[in-house]
Amino acid sequence: MTNNTATQQLQDRLTAAFPTADAIPEAFRLHAPLEQREVLVNGRLIPFEGELQDVLSPVQVVDGAGNRAPYLVGRYPIGTEAQALQALEAAVAAYDGGRGTWPTMGIEGRIAAMEHFTRLMVTKKAEVVRLLMWEIGKSLTDATKEFDRTVTYIYDTIEALKEMDREGSRFQIVEGVIAQIRRAPLGVMLSMGPFNYPLNETYCMLIPALLMGNTVVFKTPKHGTLLHYPLLECFAQAFPPGVVNTIYGRGAAVVPALLATGKIDVLGFIGSSKVANGLKKQHPKVNRLRSVLGLDAKNVGIVLPSADLDDTVKECILGTLSFNGQRCTALKVLFVHQDVAEAFVAKLSEAVGKLKVGMPWDEKVNITPLPEPGKPAYLREVTEDALAKGARIVNEGGGAQAGSLVYPAVLYPVAHGMRVYREEQFGPIIPVVPFADIDEPIRYMQTSDHGQQVSIFGQDAEQMAHLVDPMVNMVCRVNLNAQCQRGPDVFPFTGRKDSAEGTLSVVDALRSFSIRSMVATKATDKDKAILNTMVENRDSSFVSTRFLL
Ligand code: G3H
Repeated sequence: MTNNTATQQLQDRLTAAFPTADAIPEAFRLHAPLEQREVLVNGRLIPFEGELQDVLSPVQVVDGAGNRAPYLVGRYPIGTEAQALQALEAAVAAYDGGRGTWPTMGIEGRIAAMEHFTRLMVTKKAEVVRLLMWEIGKSLTDATKEFDRTVTYIYDTIEALKEMDREGSRFQIVEGVIAQIRRAPLGVMLSMGPFNYPLNETYCMLIPALLMGNTVVFKTPKHGTLLHYPLLECFAQAFPPGVVNTIYGRGAAVVPALLATGKIDVLGFIGSSKVANGLKKQHPKVNRLRSVLGLDAKNVGIVLPSADLDDTVKECILGTLSFNGQRCTALKVLFVHQDVAEAFVAKLSEAVGKLKVGMPWDEKVNITPLPEPGKPAYLREVTEDALAKGARIVNEGGGAQAGSLVYPAVLYPVAHGMRVYREEQFGPIIPVVPFADIDEPIRYMQTSDHGQQVSIFGQDAEQMAHLVDPMVNMVCRVNLNAQCQRGPDVFPFTGRKDSAEGTLSVVDALRSFSIRSMVATKATDKDKAILNTMVENRDSSFVSTRFLL
């Protein structure tokens, strides 16, 4: 079979994967577009009168005449700068320079509100999961996982906060000074999550920030906005007015003005380093802004001659192609020792051939439609660039496209000078670089703009040990015979260079969104008596020896 025939056959397979309206299983049908005409500001869902943005699904639906068109999921507000500033003012008022109800409330009250929210949130699971599938093309399994993982994250964060509070509930006496040291909120947070984990990654910032007493303005991602809509009433019911507020619209049009006010104290952002840098510069007093950022990554997989190729291929498939390669932690380039490179790409191509292409609700589906409208064209462009510079598509039909569906391409041999060598493709392309000397992938990592994670595949413990020592200084997680990933969520998730700022994890996020603050006095009888009275009368949330179990 020629490559062209294989590509044509694949294209036909991709085309046939798109459903007619009747073929969509009842459980996942959207019976009418979901129209959001309200925004959450100051504890209320207030009507939105302006222009709406169409949400077109990456899932394209075939009509009676055989024409395929993106499905209209619904519409959401295209917010204006003035509306964004109104949401910010609500958050600023709720924080009230640290005097607000929420920042001064003890953690018992904040935890109770968060648990209330979570009980309401779980009642929305089916709706949110369905919207995740339609808005970003995530499979039912992965969308469900994203929802459940987020709920688990909330409960784990609550437990971590209790633990932190227990540590802070005692007095320390040092050099005649008595002190109580706890973590306190930073102020008003602007939170912006990414499209690939629109629920999980937004909430992984929002939840710890709220629990620590910050107030929040959050902007939903460009793709993955409507799925937040069912949850807005849960926020409104569970939290005091102004603690959670939403903004919508084009980021470039509404966000710079928020930062320019100087009233944002924390920027929680997951997206590109270019956008993050631009936003930080808008703040008039950069030193006042705490940034917690998850940014670009081009994680490397290194396959050593000693690797168990079958196990390695399994992990590399997960690492490169889970959610079509649209994970910041994805393996985005594989360096394979030349002694095993041919055997590896053959096995890898065979494994790609077994992946199921389909719609998000299809059982065991692996490859689903891509939500970014320009992505298929971009992937074609970088593939053609690699082909023009000497790479081949090794797997049958690799790179075939039909609308928003792109069949994965294994590109080999990839080399310096090709765009896929350095660019973060964030999609289903697997660039394989053969190497003769281990210095080659090491130099690649040293000269990379990114520093999130690496995966080393091999069975030679001594060689791997020698690689681990320098690599832990280049990235923040070295995975042995395992794909790169964020979880388990209690482990620190961060990166060097342009990959991150600050650390997220169940415990670290509580720290990232807070600052240590203390109450101190001299250990004189009079001052001890004052502290004792404060504790006994329970007039202060901060000066207190109570703790939650
Ligand atoms: O896009 C980045 C995500 O945080 C990755 O999370 O490794 O659990 O898929 P994951």
